[in-house]
Amino acid sequence: MKREATLIAGDGIGPEITKATLEVLEALGHDFDWDEQYGGMAAVDTGGTPLPNATVDSIRRTRLCLKGPLTTPVGGGYRSVNVALRQEFDLYANVRPAKTIVPGGRYTNVDLVIIRENTEGLYVGLDHTFKLGGDRRALAQAMSIVTREGSERVARYAFEYAKAHGRKKVTIVHKANILKATSGLFLETARHVAKSYEGVIAVEDKIVDNTAMQLVMKPEQFDVIVTTNLFGDILSDLAAGLVGGLGLAPGANIGTHAAIFEPVHGSAPDIAGQGIANPGAQLLAAAMMLDHVGELAAGNRLRRAVEAAIVEDNVRTPDLGGHATTAECARAVARRCRS
Ligand code: NAI
Ligand code: MG
Repeated sequence: MKREATLIAGDGIGPEITKATLEVLEALGHDFDWDEQYGGMAAVDTGGTPLPNATVDSIRRTRLCLKGPLTTPVGGGYRSVNVALRQEFDLYANVRPAKTIVPGGRYTNVDLVIIRENTEGLYVGLDHTFKLGGDRRALAQAMSIVTREGSERVARYAFEYAKAHGRKKVTIVHKANILKATSGLFLETARHVAKSYEGVIAVEDKIVDNTAMQLVMKPEQFDVIVTTNLFGDILSDLAAGLVGGLGLAPGANIGTHAAIFEPVHGSAPDIAGQGIANPGAQLLAAAMMLDHVGELAAGNRLRRAVEAAIVEDNVRTPDLGGHATTAECARAVARRCRS
């Protein structure tokens, strides 16, 4: 029986890469029972709002969503759909794998996953300016909120993820030498969680600035990284850069009430409608979604098919230096899924 899931095709190149993804999932024999809903500009055009209630209701029911990139409407006063979804479904863990796929880049053996706490830290919105004398913006202050509960659930997710995916080590990344209270609480809590995985998953901790340098010098040493919101935001983009950028970077947002899977890139308006977008990131997001529902073998098969189509069959879109179209990529990956 097919598992029900919400599908948001998205804006710009979204519908093109989503069509490719659906073709490949069908070839894989692990399709979902899709409830297609609108989001982003496509939803503004049809219903006047970027996040319709019907879309939220659908995700609440299915608890599972594959989402294409959404264009953030400019000048409409809409709040970001991504932020709204994060709040609505308490999506506390942002998961971003970075793996070398295309050979010949700077690094050959990167295979790491960054798990970023997604609801706390400096992103809680307590960010203000103050007036001093005649200067209305003389002083600015931001507040970072870290809770034991918030740290505990993201750390537990990271260790469970490591266990489920046969990973060996979790690195807790922090700045507890300076931010003794906030980063200190995160480190203390994550170390405590690590104790229940002793002998199963190795643990280490590293200060964030050293981690940034180590990621550039010797990224192969990392396996799973768990960290707070701001550090995770920066390090996950750094990690995407290590393996060749956005075209093959998937992401997952894991929450208590739902999980949403998406490519890390945006709607790429500069190439939308040309049929040349790389469907890789969306395909790898779908593989993460299969993992999440316990279909790890299917997820692995899909990842291998994407790699084989790019590396062995040399079917590459222009962003990867090739001449293939989105449709040709979908066909090549689908063929690999069937063989
Ligand atoms: P972008 O990621 O859409 O594009 C940056 C560059 O990468 C462009 O040159 C684009 O052609 C290229 N690119 C991106 N994905 C590609 C793919 N699959 N294949 C080939 N080339 C690809 O970032 P940009 O231009 O800053 O944002 C465009 C729109 O997307 C904005 O409205 C932004 O708000 C939105 N956005 C949405 C995200 C989401 O829904 N998660 C994430 C990032 C941006
Ligand atoms: Mg970011």
